[in-house]
Amino acid sequence: MRKIIITIDGYSSCGKSTLAKQLAKELNYVFVDSGAMYRAITLYFLRNHIDWNMTEEVVGALPNITLDFAYNDLDGTSDMIMNDENVEMLIREMLVSENVSEVAAVKEVRAFAVAQQQQMGLKKGIVMDGRDIGTTVFPNAELKIFVTADPAVRVERRYRELFLKNPHITIEEIRDNLEMRDYIDSNREVSPLRKAEDAIVLDNSNLTKEEQLTKVLGWVKEKLN
Ligand code: CDP
Ligand code: CDP
Repeated sequence: MRKIIITIDGYSSCGKSTLAKQLAKELNYVFVDSGAMYRAITLYFLRNHIDWNMTEEVVGALPNITLDFAYNDLDGTSDMIMNDENVEMLIREMLVSENVSEVAAVKEVRAFAVAQQQQMGLKKGIVMDGRDIGTTVFPNAELKIFVTADPAVRVERRYRELFLKNPHITIEEIRDNLEMRDYIDSNREVSPLRKAEDAIVLDNSNLTKEEQLTKVLGWVKEKLN
């Protein structure tokens, strides 16, 4: 069967990665969490005291970062591997979440990540989620989805997820972080978060994971026919 590129963009904690993973599993496509790449770069900068406001430091550091994904065929998840280290857990920590949007706004960082993302899509059969996938990474993708959900629902979903790992985390901390990232991501100069003109909007505030998958698989079938 013909393979296509599916892009999933939207605000923080809307369920983009969940949907992308579900689709990839169902269609036997490659799943790429582009946000994990920006998070891994942020972790590298924090660990190595790279000042991302200094272009020379950024340009010097980026060639030292190797990014890979390790896929788990059983549950369809993928782990971020940075310089041969599995950093999947570390990149989800609050310190990374607090800094990632600033790092992702740096022009050189975006060029570094986007080039690798475009390479991954050469053979098609890929579902990639992020902020600029339908607008910048794959402007010619066959199916583009823009996910939204009520902000209160998004905060609640992320809280339920993070509370399991860190019972000290507060709703306020999560709300502040999501608001801050959405603001920076939508207002940066390079590739701001925007709905691509030809993207279909999916508001999943009241949809379960199963319901959102069924809906989107219908759109995929339409495209493939
Ligand atoms: O999953 P969550 O919504 O928390 O965020 P993420 O997808 O892991 O992305 C983390 C951050 O990376 C975002 O807030 C953006 O600042 C940045 N990002 C981006 O700029 N472009 C992308 N294609 C993906 C993520
Ligand atoms: O990738 P993004 O930041 O947009 O969100 P995510 O990490 O896929 O989803 C955030 C949380 O919402 C996860 O805990 C999902 O299980 C949950 N979720 C949900 O409860 N219902 C949905 N329809 C979609 C996601």
